Amino acid sequence: MPERSPAKRIAVIPGDGVGKEVMPEAVKTLKAAASKGGRELALTEFDWGADRYLRDGTTLPSDAVEMFRRDFDAILLGALGDPRVPDNRHAAEILLGLRFKLDLYANERPCVLFDSKLTPLKNRAEKDVSFWVIRENTEGLYAGIGGFFKKGTADEIATQEDVNTRKGVERIIRYAFEFARRRGLRRVCMSDKSNALAYGHNLWTRVFADLRREYTEIEASHMYIDNLLLQIVRDPSQFQVIVTCNLFGDIASDLGAGLIGGLGLAPSGNIHPGQVSLFEPVHGSAPDISGKGIANPMGATLAAGMMCEFLGWAAEAKRIEGAVRAAIAEGKTTSDLGGSLSTKQLGDWLAARAAS
Ligand SMILES: NC(=O)c1ccc[n+]([C@@H]2O[C@H](COP(=O)([O-])OP(=O)(O)OC[C@H]3O[C@@H](n4cnc5c(N)ncnc54)[C@H](O)[C@@H]3O)[C@@H](O)[C@H]2O)c1
Repeated sequence: MPERSPAKRIAVIPGDGVGKEVMPEAVKTLKAAASKGGRELALTEFDWGADRYLRDGTTLPSDAVEMFRRDFDAILLGALGDPRVPDNRHAAEILLGLRFKLDLYANERPCVLFDSKLTPLKNRAEKDVSFWVIRENTEGLYAGIGGFFKKGTADEIATQEDVNTRKGVERIIRYAFEFARRRGLRRVCMSDKSNALAYGHNLWTRVFADLRREYTEIEASHMYIDNLLLQIVRDPSQFQVIVTCNLFGDIASDLGAGLIGGLGLAPSGNIHPGQVSLFEPVHGSAPDISGKGIANPMGATLAAGMMCEFLGWAAEAKRIEGAVRAAIAEGKTTSDLGGSLSTKQLGDWLAARAAS
C-alpha cells in the first residue's frame, strides 16, 4: 500500500453572515477532492465572529497567532462583518490581525474568466480575461497609523499614514515576478501613483526598476493606477500579473471580480510563502442576502482550491476548480449567476462532482 502523507491541519473560521453559509459547502468539496486524491485533512473549527464577540468580547485571542504558527498548515475563512457591530471592530481585529500578525504579505487574487457568458464586457472570450492581482497586504494605508485632532468639531483633522517600506515593497514585487516565472507567465505590470505620491510610490518605482533586471525573460511594465483601471476594462488581455499596493490592489481586484462573474465567484489567498497562510472568498458577509440560503459558495470553494495548491496538492486544486468550471458550464449556479440552486444544493453538486 502506498504510504500516506501526514494530514494537513486546517483551521476553519466561518465568521459572519454568508460566511457561515458558504464555508460548510466549500469544506464539503474540499473533503471530497482530498478523499478522492487519498489525502488526509484535519479540520478544526473556530467560532470567532460577531456572535462570539457580542457574547463575550472575544475577537482574536492573544495566543491565536502562536497557535496557528505551531499547529496549523493553513486557515480557511468565510467572511466577517455584522450590522450589529457598526464599527466592525471584531472583523478588523480578526482579519487584519491575522494578516498583519502572521505577516501574510502577499494577497493573491485570480481574475480568471471561466465562461464568456459571465463577463459584462462585450465580445470577450475566456482567454481575454486571465490575470492575477498581487496585492501588498501588510502596509500602505491599511497599516492603521493616523489619528484625529479636534474630533467632532468644525476644525477636525483626520490623518491616515501611507506606510511603504523597502523590505515590504521589494518582497511583494519579487513575489509577483516569482509567481509569473513559476506559472510560465510573461508579463508583470506594476501599478502605483508615483506622479502624485512622490515619496511612497517613488520607492515602488525605484524598487521595480531594480528587480526587473533580475527577471529579464519577463516583460515588465508600469502603469499609473487610474490608467490601469481604465485599461483593465478596455482590454484585460494585456495583463497577466499585476502587482500593486494594498489600497490599489483592493480596488483593482474587485474590478477584476466584476469582469469574471461577480464577488460570489472570486477567491483570494493571503500568503507568506512557507508559513501558515489564509484563504478566503473575496466577498464580505453580505447582510442583504444572509440567511436566505442563496449565497454563491463558489468563491469560498475556489479559495479552498487555492489553499490546496499552496499545500502542494496540485491535483486536488485542479479537481476543485474543475468542479466549479463544470457547474458553470452546465448552468448549475446560484441566482447571482442566473441559476436557481440554493447554496446547499450547489455545494452538494460541487462536492459530488469533485468526488467523481
Ligand atoms: N474579507 C471579509 O471578510 C470582508 C470583505 C468585504 C466586506 N466585508 C464586510 O462584509 C460586510 C458587507 O460588506 P459589503 O456589502 O460591502 O460587501 P459584500 O461582499 O458582503 O457584498 C457586496 C454585494 O455582493 C453580494 N455578494 C457577496 N457575496 C456573495 C455571494 N457569496 N453570493 C452572491 N452574492 C454575494 C452581496 O449580496 C452584495 O450585494 C461589511 O461588514 C464589510 O465590512 C468583509
